[in-house]
Amino acid sequence: MTVILAIESSCDDTSSAVIVDGILRSNVIASQKVHEEYGGVVPELASRAHQMNILPVVDTALKRAGVAKEAVSAVAFTRGPGLLGSLLVGTSFAKGLALALNVPIIDVNHLQGHVLAHFVEPSDELIAQTPSLQGAVIKHPSFPFLCLLVSGGNSQIVLVRAYNNMEIIGQTIDDAAGEAFDKCAKVLGLPYPGGPWIDKLAKQGDATKYPFAKPNIQGYDYSFSGLKTSFLYTLRDMLKANGVETIDELAAKVPNLREDMCASLQATIIDILMRKLKKAAQDLGIKQVAVAGGVSANSGLRQAFLDYGKRFHWEVFIPPFSFTTDNAAMVCQAGYFKYLDHDFCAIDKVPFAKTQI
Ligand code: KG4
Repeated sequence: MTVILAIESSCDDTSSAVIVDGILRSNVIASQKVHEEYGGVVPELASRAHQMNILPVVDTALKRAGVAKEAVSAVAFTRGPGLLGSLLVGTSFAKGLALALNVPIIDVNHLQGHVLAHFVEPSDELIAQTPSLQGAVIKHPSFPFLCLLVSGGNSQIVLVRAYNNMEIIGQTIDDAAGEAFDKCAKVLGLPYPGGPWIDKLAKQGDATKYPFAKPNIQGYDYSFSGLKTSFLYTLRDMLKANGVETIDELAAKVPNLREDMCASLQATIIDILMRKLKKAAQDLGIKQVAVAGGVSANSGLRQAFLDYGKRFHWEVFIPPFSFTTDNAAMVCQAGYFKYLDHDFCAIDKVPFAKTQI
């Protein structure tokens, strides 16, 4: 029996998962509410919360999987990219546990984990216990495929040639798509993280109401900082034109303000993301196209994938909600593949903060 225990602690979610013989048995996530009042993740608070959460989260993951810690074959952990303090908690815990159990450790790149979320096979018991997995279509892409990886910290187009062979062919040169959602939401006075709020309000708004600036960048790279500025300046000009100082005052004068701003912003972000993805798919002649990362929870982006799929004859892969935001299931899957390759990591490996794949 091969048992992989995984730990994910790259940002503000402490998560642990267990895969037994290739099947995901548990995926426990403790989210940190402490950041809400600050409008963004506070790194030091995140590290402290990870320290408090990690032991009960790992313990629960093992119990839900129905395996004793002595049965663990290897401990996989997210080595980066992410917040260094947060990563240090998971990395140190993984090393300590593996040393105590006398099993190898496996370092996992968080971004590769997001891509490999498409290969997670949850057990029937786990599906029955997890509402977001019920009725979800779980299918695996074949190689090569393109993956649009969009989260709070990354926006990339990844060419996936194999489990262990990925190349970033395009990425943001400034902000990530999730960052654009979150920062614009903050300007509108919406809670953190703003992405889900924008998604919700956009459903009642007019996506053509505010034409925001779109970048003109070569190749497959992205840029979202100009859009953010365009959003900010649109509001600033409206405040001035209406002789008011706050968004609430403006919303009282301009009907459907927040809804229309959200719908227009979301449509612009999706258009920017999909155009480059279409170009990459056409240039490379690839018809299998996947999406991953926290922003892939966005209902407009999911619909755009289905629409593009129909129009351009792509086979599209959209992960179940549970595997879109940060979770250890994807780290466990990546760790399982590495275990099969005997691709273990030295005990002196340290976490890394910056994007690499
Ligand atoms: O992958 P992820 O969980 O973690 C990090 O990048 O750390 O992604 C989080 C990002 C946030 O920016 C959040 O606002 C965004 O995913 N997000 C969404 C939605 N749900 C989460 N953005 C747009 N629409 C959503 N429904």
